[in-house]
Amino acid sequence: MFINVAMTADGKIAPSDRRFIPFGSKRDREHLLELRATADAVMAGARTVDMFPVNMGAGGAKYRRLRARRGLAEENLRVIVSGRGTIDPKAKIFQRRELGPIIVLTTERAGARQLRRLSELVDEAKICGEDAVDFGAALKWLRKEWGVKRLLCEGGGELNAALFAAGVVDELHLTINPRFFGGRDAPTLADGAGVEHLADATRLKLKSVKESDGEVFLVYQVKG
Ligand SMILES: NC(=O)c1ccc[n+]([C@@H]2O[C@H](COP(=O)([O-])OP(=O)(O)OC[C@H]3O[C@@H](n4cnc5c(N)ncnc54)[C@H](OP(=O)(O)O)[C@@H]3O)[C@@H](O)[C@H]2O)c1
Repeated sequence: MFINVAMTADGKIAPSDRRFIPFGSKRDREHLLELRATADAVMAGARTVDMFPVNMGAGGAKYRRLRARRGLAEENLRVIVSGRGTIDPKAKIFQRRELGPIIVLTTERAGARQLRRLSELVDEAKICGEDAVDFGAALKWLRKEWGVKRLLCEGGGELNAALFAAGVVDELHLTINPRFFGGRDAPTLADGAGVEHLADATRLKLKSVKESDGEVFLVYQVKG
């Protein structure tokens, strides 16, 4: 699986109030849709889905044609991660049900009421763990039941951190935008607890660097 994220030059993925600000360029937006067009499924955390006005779809006829040529379903599967099953039912993603099926990966922390509510909102809600989603098991399940071979995660920081910690990330696609947000509480690409020792840091190998109008597009391979 791979992660795509856009951050400012000071490493922030949103301002400190966590509000959605479309700070990426038009090129970065195209880049995001080009990456979606290589994936069977696109995944995001519950807070990103609540806050981002995104539908997580393929992005229109041009990308659907590209997907079809690659032998992919015209629309990607849409996967939301929510351990407590707390996703805003008014989120934009639920307003475009004609796009790809919506799956929620959740845990036993989501009670019966939340699960009932989710089942009315999405195509399938799958319990994949007690307290936190077990991503190893969840990815296996997605592959077996929904044919997901290539999964793209689009954030946010808490979900990205959990995926790195679970050791399931193969690649990181990182756009560095020539802006500066500041703010000690502003989210970064991988929040969560983080590591205590240098030896525990995730090691990356730089695979490619591209620049367009001051914006830098990096691809890292996760080592080991
Ligand atoms: N610049 C970019 O590329 C980009 C992309 C995406 C998002 N963002 C920004 O990122 C921020 C949102 O990120 P965030 O870190 O606050 O939230 P997030 O990662 O989108 O979502 C966090 C939620 O996901 C669920 N979750 C995450 N890891 C889990 C695990 N291991 N097991 C079970 N559930 C898990 C939990 O949901 P429950 O609480 O329901 O259990 C958790 O509260 C926003 O400010 C957004 O604007 C920026």
